[in-house]
Amino acid sequence: MWLARRGVDVVGVDISPTAIAQARELAAASGVSDRSRFEVVDLDTGLPAGPPADVIVCHLFRDPRLYTPIIERLAPGGLLAIAVLSVVGAAPGRFRAAPGELTTAFGELQVIASGEGDGLAWLLGRRPGS
Ligand SMILES: C[S@@+](CC[C@H](N)C(=O)[O-])C[C@H]1O[C@@H](n2cnc3c(N)ncnc32)[C@H](O)[C@@H]1O
Repeated sequence: MWLARRGVDVVGVDISPTAIAQARELAAASGVSDRSRFEVVDLDTGLPAGPPADVIVCHLFRDPRLYTPIIERLAPGGLLAIAVLSVVGAAPGRFRAAPGELTTAFGELQVIASGEGDGLAWLLGRRPGS
């Protein structure tokens, strides 16, 4: 919604039909249905097909198998904002990133900012290019 309200054409995906229905309702209520599309997608089968993206936001969904496809999907100069659960500052868990996971996985991006602690890891990076 934040991006769409600022004029960006947005595609949002989640496996939950409830979440997607709520996103569509919010888009309609916010007057941004014309530039936002929300689809039920199982990311266990990989990223859905699509054109290069200027911005990718991945918030609290972690699948290391998607890290390389996410980099490849970014347009040159495109931005990635990702936040995942982390073992740093939290109890171990199979859904949590290992220490340094994001900075290692996205090391070929220009890392603008990153951090980890209190059970969360996050990174903002730009794909080199124009
Ligand atoms: C912790 S919630 C985060 C939701 C939202 N991104 C946010 O930040 O508020 C994790 C989300 O991942 C979705 N999810 C779980 N498995 C998925 C899969 N295989 N493919 C796509 N989405 C999935 C869940 O439906 C849930 O909405």
